[in-house]
Amino acid sequence: MSFHIQHARPDQAAQIESLLDRAFGYDRTERTVYRLREGLTPLTELSFVALHADGGLLASIQYWPIDIEGTPAILLGPLAVEPALQGQGYGKALVRHSLSEAKRLGHRLCVVVGARDYYAPFGFVSAAAAGLLMPGPVDWPRFQVLELQAGALEGVSGLIGRAAPDAGKADRARRRA
Ligand SMILES: CC(C)(COP(=O)(O)OP(=O)(O)OC[C@H]1O[C@@H](n2cnc3c(N)ncnc32)[C@H](O)[C@@H]1OP(=O)(O)O)[C@@H](O)C(=O)NCCC(=O)NCCS
Repeated sequence: MSFHIQHARPDQAAQIESLLDRAFGYDRTERTVYRLREGLTPLTELSFVALHADGGLLASIQYWPIDIEGTPAILLGPLAVEPALQGQGYGKALVRHSLSEAKRLGHRLCVVVGARDYYAPFGFVSAAAAGLLMPGPVDWPRFQVLELQAGALEGVSGLIGRAAPDAGKADRARRRA
């Protein structure tokens, strides 16, 4: 199916939420990653959707600002593909596109809690082995980190926390300067 990737628009928010409910189930917000996202908005520059040529929503990916003991990082997720259209490459296309954009924008570290086999080909490694901790229950093999810039993990370890409410904005201004 022909499709294209573009930045998510504010008027697609309800459609994206509905896709997330269908892909993850209505209890999705009980996961620890949601505690890190509470009260924050996803990074607009890294919120992407895959759209069918007719404009229909096929998949969505979002990222959030997080903090690792004072080091800014980003949290990938949720990534969701329309249930009837899974396994056709939309998920990987969104991950590839958004990670490349995150690198280009100067983000340094990306954390994800997701299937190891899915994210390892993008270069993600065990976050626990790298000395990172989640602030709540997590399935440890699914907890992974990626250096978006070489050496970004050097000297970084400890507890992942919520970013300050204006972290996304401040980070964008810093990277524009
Ligand atoms: C997980 C998800 C995002 C993958 O996107 P997709 O478009 O369906 O998958 P893609 O076509 O990009 O990739 C397919 C490959 O990923 C693998 N894959 C799909 N889901 C997987 C999972 N949960 N664990 C491990 N591998 C998975 C497939 O086996 C396939 O492998 P292959 O390329 O070797 O054949 C999508 O299936 C989805 O939305 N699932 C429900 C929500 C969810 O669980 N999201 C988790 C994101 S951490």
